[in-house]
Amino acid sequence: MDLPHFALDEWLSAHNFATPPIEFDLASSTGPGFSVTELAQLGGGLDLGDVALGYAPPQGSAAVRTAVAALHDTDPDWVVMTTGASEALAIILCLASEPSANIVIPDPAYPAYAGMAQASGLATRAYAVKGADGFALDPEPILAAVTDATRLVLLNTPHNPTGVVMPRPAIAALAAALAERSIPLLVDEVYHPLYFGAHQPSAAGIPNVVVMSDLSKAMSLPGLRTGWIIEADPERRRAMINARSHFTISGSPLLERLATHALLQRDSILGRLQQVAGKNLALLSALIDQSGGRLSWTAPHGGTTCFPWFSDGRDSRPFCEALARAGVLVAPGDCFGHPQHVRIGFAHQEAGFATALERMAALL
Ligand SMILES: Cc1ncc(COP(=O)(O)O)c(C=O)c1O
Repeated sequence: MDLPHFALDEWLSAHNFATPPIEFDLASSTGPGFSVTELAQLGGGLDLGDVALGYAPPQGSAAVRTAVAALHDTDPDWVVMTTGASEALAIILCLASEPSANIVIPDPAYPAYAGMAQASGLATRAYAVKGADGFALDPEPILAAVTDATRLVLLNTPHNPTGVVMPRPAIAALAAALAERSIPLLVDEVYHPLYFGAHQPSAAGIPNVVVMSDLSKAMSLPGLRTGWIIEADPERRRAMINARSHFTISGSPLLERLATHALLQRDSILGRLQQVAGKNLALLSALIDQSGGRLSWTAPHGGTTCFPWFSDGRDSRPFCEALARAGVLVAPGDCFGHPQHVRIGFAHQEAGFATALERMAALL
């Protein structure tokens, strides 16, 4: 099987893992980075000496599931741990797979939705993340994309790459409409709980909603490769745990211990994220205002990324390549099938964001 070319990860890897790496990373969608020492020191320290290096339970240890449940204000029994949200997605799509079935996904979207659907033998139908005035997540176009062969609808809120958010009442209405057709709603919450307006509760607990999330994005710890599914239905949960046994057997007990510690210290981690993202977003907003109309955008309401576009409709790749030569990495919109756009991550680069924007302004 030929999976689609993952242009985004190729672009990020080519620059972030270069020697030397790019000076300013405004392309990644994670929060500010942590070393093991920085993480372990939060909350007065962490001793890993007694961790037994066997397998963990396939659904994850009780400790890590309890810590995840607290983040989503849900029942620990509903939590199934996975290797990143990536494995959560792979498990859910594998279990949704049927001949001639389709899933409904956003456009633009995190590229693995389409790639993993194809890997599971599922067709995709896209709905536009678009309102009257720029980007928006509305139930109407989502429901319009559903057919009799739809087995799952995927919603990502806060949304990558646009930063738009669907409020909980709208998620509940969408999930209820889908329930009438026996179609579950998968909510990808990897950027929860980073919001720039009113705080949104997690979608966990809404009837007919399955949540997937991770420690990679809002929690800023992609190197822990820790994700999870929140599924209320015990039968479907059993099938997911069984799938995990086939896919990766279990998580690492060492990473589960670090993940539990991180989740218990989430106020510090999320506080740092909110501070970096808020400060950088204000600087970015000023740059767009001062771009003389060259760049347009929908200001993000949550998450770590936004998706401005060249107002004259030009392909952004030559600009992104020139900016990378000047030491600043953003992601070309063609990585998401929208060449006139640029994805800018504003939550990862803690120091020097203003300098990076000065270089961007000079090139603009
Ligand atoms: C929206 C979204 N969902 C899921 C993932 C998967 O992340 P991970 O496997 O690191 O948890 C990503 C990664 O970029 C993402 O952007």
